[in-house]
Amino acid sequence: MASWSGWIAALLIVIAATLPLGFRLREGKRAPVGTPTVRAHVLLGLATSIATFVHTGLVLPELGSDAAVGAGGLAFAAGAFAFLVMIAHGGLGLGLRDPKRRDRAQQRRRHATTAVVLALIVLAHVVLLLRARHQG
Ligand code: HEM
Ligand code: HEM
Repeated sequence: MASWSGWIAALLIVIAATLPLGFRLREGKRAPVGTPTVRAHVLLGLATSIATFVHTGLVLPELGSDAAVGAGGLAFAAGAFAFLVMIAHGGLGLGLRDPKRRDRAQQRRRHATTAVVLALIVLAHVVLLLRARHQG
């Protein structure tokens, strides 16, 4: 059963996103780089990446199982795509730690866009898997 590792990864995505978004809601501005909020976000973001890598590693030996194949190609493709987006998103986030970076605004927008894409794709991955499980 690799599904628990998927739930840990999904939960960490939500928790990681809550920090910068919560700061913005509370303070009405972005959390500056170097603040405890962003530092905690970077650590949580890295933990999130590791959790998605572990989940992917754990499902690899089970890819022939009913849980994996039974949910269909779309559930599977969503997982694989989420993995790629996670790598791009983490890379963008690591670059954002430099407050003097020239193309910061653009990189930040990309980090935010890939965060939304990641959340939506993971949602699709999970909904498709759960639906297949309840039907089967
Ligand atoms: C960002 C990355 C990912 C996240 C957050 C994620 C999330 C999840 C979650 C929450 C579940 C549990 C759903 C349930 O209880 O049925 C799950 C299950 C699963 N995921 Fe992912 N996933 C990711 C990437 C991947 C990738 C890359 C693959 C395949 C290469 C994959 C394949 C699977 C499979 C086969 C299951 C079913 C496992 C089982 O029920 O034993 N996932 N995933
Ligand atoms: C390797 C992992 C990660 C690193 C290194 C990282 C780094 C950063 C940094 C440095 C910022 C501050 C950007 C700025 O205002 O200048 C930021 C913002 C943000 N991050 Fe991450 N992050 C990571 C993962 C994640 C994850 C997993 C999510 C959730 C899906 C996420 C969502 C966000 C959001 C929504 C913002 C706010 C963007 C904005 O206000 O425009 N990040 N991240």
